[in-house]
Parts: sequence; C-alpha cells; structure tokens
Amino acid sequence: MQLSDVRRLTPITQEFAYFQSSGFSPKMEPVIEETNRWARFQNAGGAAPGINEKMLEGFEATREKVARSMNADSDEIVLGENTTIGINIVANGIDWRAGDNVILSDKEHPGNRITWYSHVRRYGIELRFLEVVHDEELMLDQFERLLDERTRIVSVSHVCRRTGQRLPARALVDSAHDRGVPVLLDGAQAYGAVPLDVRALDCDFYAFSGHKYIMAPQGTGGFYVRQDRIPWIQPSWIGSHSQKDFDLEGGLTLLDEAKRFEFGTRNLADQVGWGKALDCWEEIGWENVFAYIESYTDRAKEALLAVPGLNLHTPLPYERSSGIVTFSLEGKTSAEIQEHLKGEKVLVAPLELDGSMIRVSTHVFNNGEDLERLAAGLRGLT
Ligand SMILES: Cc1ncc(COP(=O)(O)O)c(C=O)c1O
Repeated sequence: MQLSDVRRLTPITQEFAYFQSSGFSPKMEPVIEETNRWARFQNAGGAAPGINEKMLEGFEATREKVARSMNADSDEIVLGENTTIGINIVANGIDWRAGDNVILSDKEHPGNRITWYSHVRRYGIELRFLEVVHDEELMLDQFERLLDERTRIVSVSHVCRRTGQRLPARALVDSAHDRGVPVLLDGAQAYGAVPLDVRALDCDFYAFSGHKYIMAPQGTGGFYVRQDRIPWIQPSWIGSHSQKDFDLEGGLTLLDEAKRFEFGTRNLADQVGWGKALDCWEEIGWENVFAYIESYTDRAKEALLAVPGLNLHTPLPYERSSGIVTFSLEGKTSAEIQEHLKGEKVLVAPLELDGSMIRVSTHVFNNGEDLERLAAGLRGLT
C-alpha cells in the first residue's frame, strides 16, 4: 500500500474536500471492511468455541501495534474508546487534598477540562492555566511560575486543538519533573499527525484517539502509562478483567500491566479494526505520512495567506505546528464561513467559544484540488 492509495480507498474524498480529520476522520475501506468482518464474527455469539479467544488475540495484536507506533511497551498501553478515558483514569486516580493544584493550558478541549473542573467542586483543588503563546521561552517562564509544591499534575495538549501549535512538550516535561510533578499529555491532535515517541518525550502519561488522524473506527482511543507510573494511579476505574486474582472475601491483586484499567465486556471488533488502520500506516511508512502532512500543511498556509482579509492563527514554522491550520476572515463569522464552504463541498470546523475561527485539518488524502476548492470558496466570500 502506498500513500496515494489512501485517497482512492477513502470514497468520501470524491465528494468533499475533507478537512475535518481533527474531529472525525473518514475511514479507509479496508478498515471498514475488516471492522465489519470482525463485528459479524464477534456478534455471532461470543460463547461459541473459539470466538472470544480469537477476538482477544486480535485485540492484543492491536495493543502491540499501538505500542510500536509510539515507542511504548505493550504493557504500558490501555485500549479504550477515546482520549478522554485516559484523562479520567489519571484525574480520578490521585488522592486529592484540598489546595492541591493542576496545571492545564488555556486552550484545552473540554475532554481535558471537564473532569478537572468537577474536581474543583468535589475536592477543592485549584486549576492553573498556562497561556499558550507563540513565544516558547515566554511560555516556559510562565510555566515555571505556575508550578509549586502543591502541583500534583500537569495535563496539557501535545498539539493544541485550536491553532495546531505544537507545545514544547519535552521542555515542559523536564521542567515539571525537576519539581517531581508528573505530566499527562493530551495527544488527541498529535497522534498520527506528527511523529510520536513517548520515551523521547519522557512524559508519564499520554492519552490519544484512534478515530482522528489514525483513521481507525469511531470510538477507539488509548492511554500510555509509563511502567513505573502504573502503581502510582489509584485504581478507581476498574472491574472484571482488571485483576490477576481475587477471592470472595475481598482479596484482590490487580494485573501488573496498564490493562488493569480496562474492564467489562467491550466491542473488540472496533479495536481490531484499529489494528488494520495501523497496518496500513506501517506499510505506507510513518515517515511518508508525516512528510506529506508537513509539506501539504505548508502549502495550505501559503494558499490561505493569499486570501484577502484572512488572518492565520497557526505558527508558520512547521516544527512548531502540525496538521491543523486555523484562520479567521475579516467581517465573517465562523458559522458563515463553514456554511458557505459546505455549499462548495468543503468540510472545515468552526471553533466553539469563538465566533470567528475556522480549523482546517490536513491529511494524506487531501490533494491540490481540495486546496484550490478551499481557497476559491474563501475568495468567493470576500
Ligand atoms: C485536544 C483534544 N483532546 C481531547 C479530545 C477528545 O477526544 P475524544 O473524543 O477521543 O475523547 C479532542 C477531540 O477533538 C481534542 O482535540
């Protein structure tokens, strides 16, 4: 399989210039077929000999592929339905004391806000917000000032969902670790879009989705927990399958691996379908994927900057950005822009809590024609 096959295998790209992979990516035909095939097999009757065993084999194979895709060990990977589950495992796994604080950035998705917000009411913790600015030195200085002896965790995006800015994650991690504070990176907008190596980042936790840039089935996601941090999380989200052993009198020994945070009966077909998506990217070569997204995003920035009245909110140098380009258009609301572009068969996302910003996410199936349609659609509005 080659890079150019991705567009051919993703039929919706024939109809739309699809710039919405940061929300929901389209899925390739082989991924949909594989998922459906496994769903049929699974749902025929899991108690019949061989079915559940085979499903679990496929599930574990996906865990290994996910681990490989980010330089983790499969024992450090939790597989679930989305990014937010990983955030909740950590947020609900800390023995909070009133007055503890958490550092978030000011650009986080609700998934990396809501659970912390609720902890303010529930445990009396304090939230501190790192302002994401283009100047990394300023941001790091500010971060140093936010950290103190009551900081229990830092939970920030690896790639900012609003502007696509890539945060100086390793520098933030080093600075937090100097104070003994663990770091959770929200990788929803990074995983599959930019190279990912959790060892090189040295983060303690990394939460991610399969259904965005990986183009895995809707409702797939995961969570990396560095080996030594597994026992650090108080296991509040557990159940059947989390245990190595238990008895009827209250005795319990949890699994040593991160999968102790998985429990209950689950839809494994989607997880196996995720494995198929990873097979495709491995065959194509991650380096080819990242190189294409980089060069296409640079072209997208250039094409957008040529539109009169357009303001770009994404940093220009690619090493500080990702596959997201965010802009506003003078005198137009994001709803107007989105509606107009939809009429031109161009799919983009308006950003909530803001009346003017539009997010374009680029992927390897986007081509020059898509970009022309986007730019022409915007010029038609000015
Ligand atoms: C940065 C970020 N974090 C978290 C989420 C939530 O992801 P999920 O729906 O997979 O939990 C999103 C979704 O867009 C996101 O952009």
